[in-house]
Amino acid sequence: MLGLFLPLQTGGWSQSTLPRGTDWTFAYNLELTRRAEEWGFDIAFGLSQWLPMGGFGGETGYRENFLDPFVSAVALASATRSILLLGTVHVLYGPWHPLHLAKFLATADHISGGRFGANIVTGYAGNEPAMFGMTRPEHDKRYAMADEFAAICEDLWAGADNLTFHGEHWSLEEAYVSPRPAFGRPILVSASGSPAGFSYAAKHSDIVFVSSPAGEDFDTAIAAMPAHVRSVKDAARAEGREVRVVINPTIVTAPTRDAAEARYRAISDHADLESIRNFTGRHAGGDSRSWLEHSARGRAVGGHLHVVGSPADVADKLARLHESGIDGVQITFYDYVPELEFFGQEVLPLLEKAGLRVPREAP
Ligand SMILES: Cc1cc2nc3c(=O)[nH]c(=O)nc-3n(C[C@H](O)[C@H](O)[C@H](O)COP(=O)(O)O)c2cc1C
Repeated sequence: MLGLFLPLQTGGWSQSTLPRGTDWTFAYNLELTRRAEEWGFDIAFGLSQWLPMGGFGGETGYRENFLDPFVSAVALASATRSILLLGTVHVLYGPWHPLHLAKFLATADHISGGRFGANIVTGYAGNEPAMFGMTRPEHDKRYAMADEFAAICEDLWAGADNLTFHGEHWSLEEAYVSPRPAFGRPILVSASGSPAGFSYAAKHSDIVFVSSPAGEDFDTAIAAMPAHVRSVKDAARAEGREVRVVINPTIVTAPTRDAAEARYRAISDHADLESIRNFTGRHAGGDSRSWLEHSARGRAVGGHLHVVGSPADVADKLARLHESGIDGVQITFYDYVPELEFFGQEVLPLLEKAGLRVPREAP
C-alpha cells in the first residue's frame, strides 16, 4: 500500500530551513491528495497534535499552524473518488463519547462512499491532556480505555438494536446510529510501538502504523523490522485477525544517488536546531517509546525511516521493506508537490516492474 502523510501542519515532518513549497493550507493539501489519487495512492491522512502558541517554534515556527486532520479528511473525502481517507482522533481527550465517533464515522462513510476510516490515537504527550483539563492516564490504561471505546463503536455499527451498555469508562442508554455505515465497519487504524498498543490493534485495527524500533537509519532499521512486524501480526493472529503493517519513511530521491545524498545533506545541514530541541523536549515529557532511537539531527529530515537514493535505490529499499513483512508505506516528502511528482514518474514504474504495485497508466 502507498499512503501519503499529508502536511496539514507548518513544516510537515521536517525541521529544516532549506527552502521548499510544502504548505499546511487546505488548498495545498487538496491538490496533493488529488494528485496522489491520480498516481494510484491508496491512503491519505494527517497527524493530530495539540500544541501551545507557536508550535515547536524555531526559525520555521514548526507546526505553528495545524489543521484538524479529522475535519480535513472528511473535506478531502468529498473532493476525491478512490483514495482512502483517515481521520486521526485522540479518543480520550474531551469528553469524546463513542457515540460521537460512531456517528461521525458512519456519516463520513456515506460522504466518501466507503473510503473513510479513523486513526485512533491515545495521546502520549504530557501537556495535551492538560489542555483539556485532564491528567494523562497511565500508558496501558489508555489502551484499555480505547479498547472499550472501539468495542462500543463496533457494537453501534453492527448491533441490530438500541445499545444499552454500562462499561468501566463509558455508558450508553438506548443509543443507536442510523444510517449505518454503507459498506460495513469503517476502517480502523492505530499507531503503536508497545505490547499494549499491539494488543489493542490486534482486536480492533485493520492497519497498524509502526515506528522504526531502531532509529531512522535504513540499514539498522531494516535489520530490526522482521521481528517487530511479526510481533504485531502474531498478536492479531492470536485474536483470529489479520492486520496490515505500515511504516512512515521520508523519501529523498533524485536522478542519481549522489544528487539524492547531496540533497539529504542539504536538508540536514539546514536543521532548525531550536525547534528540534523543543520537539525532543516534548517527547522526553511523553511516554511514547517510538522516537527513543532517533537522532535529534534526523528530525531535520523527519519520518520514522530515511529512504535516500536514486529511483532504483528507493524502489530497492521499498522492496526490502516489503520482504521484511511491511505491507505499506505512509510516505513523507520534504517538498511535497515536486517530490510526489518525481516519485510518481520515476519510482512507481520500478515498483510496478518489481511486482509491488499493479501497473496503471500515468496520469
Ligand atoms: C505513523 C504514525 C502516526 C502517528 N500519528 C499520531 C498522531 O496523529 N497523534 C498522536 O498523538 N500520536 C500519533 N502517533 C503516536 C502513536 O499514537 C503512539 O503514541 C506511539 O507510536 C507510541 O506507541 P505506544 O502508544 O504503543 O507506546 C503516531 C505514530 C506513528 C508511528
